[in-house]
Amino acid sequence: MNVFRAMDSGESIFRDEKALQPNFLPDELVHREREIAELAFCLKPASGGRSPQNVVIMGPPGTGKTTCAKSVLKQLSEYSQTPLPVYINCWETPTRFGILNAILGELGEMMPRRGIASDEIMSRLFSFAKNLKRIPVVVLDEADRLFSTEYANEQVLYDLARASEMHSVPLGIIAITNDTEILAKVDGRIRSSLAQKVIEFPKYTPTQLKDILSERAKIAFFPGAVDADVIGVCAAVGAKEGGDARLAITMLWMAGRQAEREGKRKVTVEHAKKVRDESIEKARGLYARKEETLEGIEREIVDLLKKGALESGELYAKLKMPERTVRYHLERLEKMGIIKSDETATKDGRKRKISLKKS
Ligand SMILES: Nc1ncnc2c1ncn2[C@@H]1O[C@H](COP(=O)(O)OP(=O)(O)O)[C@@H](O)[C@H]1O
Ligand SMILES: [Mg+2]
Repeated sequence: MNVFRAMDSGESIFRDEKALQPNFLPDELVHREREIAELAFCLKPASGGRSPQNVVIMGPPGTGKTTCAKSVLKQLSEYSQTPLPVYINCWETPTRFGILNAILGELGEMMPRRGIASDEIMSRLFSFAKNLKRIPVVVLDEADRLFSTEYANEQVLYDLARASEMHSVPLGIIAITNDTEILAKVDGRIRSSLAQKVIEFPKYTPTQLKDILSERAKIAFFPGAVDADVIGVCAAVGAKEGGDARLAITMLWMAGRQAEREGKRKVTVEHAKKVRDESIEKARGLYARKEETLEGIEREIVDLLKKGALESGELYAKLKMPERTVRYHLERLEKMGIIKSDETATKDGRKRKISLKKS
């Protein structure tokens, strides 16, 4: 950072607070050298115009799965123009139709109008991909989500696996999941094609978390703004709660915020301890993890509900949007397990109360 600008922000202990936020992509990923090398090895053929190996990445939350996959894809595109990375978060796009459509869009093909069947999109996708000079490498992050939807959206795994099996459509699939049972849920034939390689991401140890936090603290805070023991405390909590780097980083961030709120120039162990429970809830609650990916109206709904439960009518009024649109998004949020709605009968008829679901 520019040294003069750094002086301007004298009232803050943060040099670059963004570095502690969930979607920050660090340049260096320590302690994931083996996993990154394995993934790169599987994808390398795509740079030569051949089908890469399909990979399933498995591991508990906060073990660097998303970050490593994104980093490898980024490096792959820098290395060669032939692979065409397509990143899809299945929480954001949880349907077979949506996923096929998103891939089609990334390939530069016109999006079909609504109402067209998934099977038809699929054949369009494959005939288009066949003539393409590039190899799509599709990341399906949080793929477990596909198994928890009402319709058979996991069908898309079969679609893509089958396509990649037929050599006429060179295509790579990287499925990322927290749920180690996911492979047991798919048909054996597809399993072997989907999981040509399984890469497991282990939990981080306290020492590994310390290294990750130290790197991050250098970017995020001004020198000397964090007491030496703070990193150790955050690393210990992250390790105890599942070897979770997201949690450890969130705790460091919130400790910094706490220090700032108290008008202190230094983050201390007391600050870290004070934010411990809140950090666990923020980083670990399933709800928080899903919430990271929300955008637009769904983000707005969740923000409104954070202030308290609302009647559906009040929500429609506040959002100033057609009731039908709001209802559609409420349904989606409910399916994701982020909100719940309780219907009660009153003397004026039925009422729906919408609130956030804590998990
Ligand atoms: N090896 C690492 N080095 C630096 N930061 C990491 C590392 N592993 C994870 N992180 C950070 O921890 C957080 C969670 O990682 P993420 O890849 O989202 O985990 P997962 O997808 O396994 O739940 C992110 O903010 C990420 O930047
Ligand atoms: Mg992830």
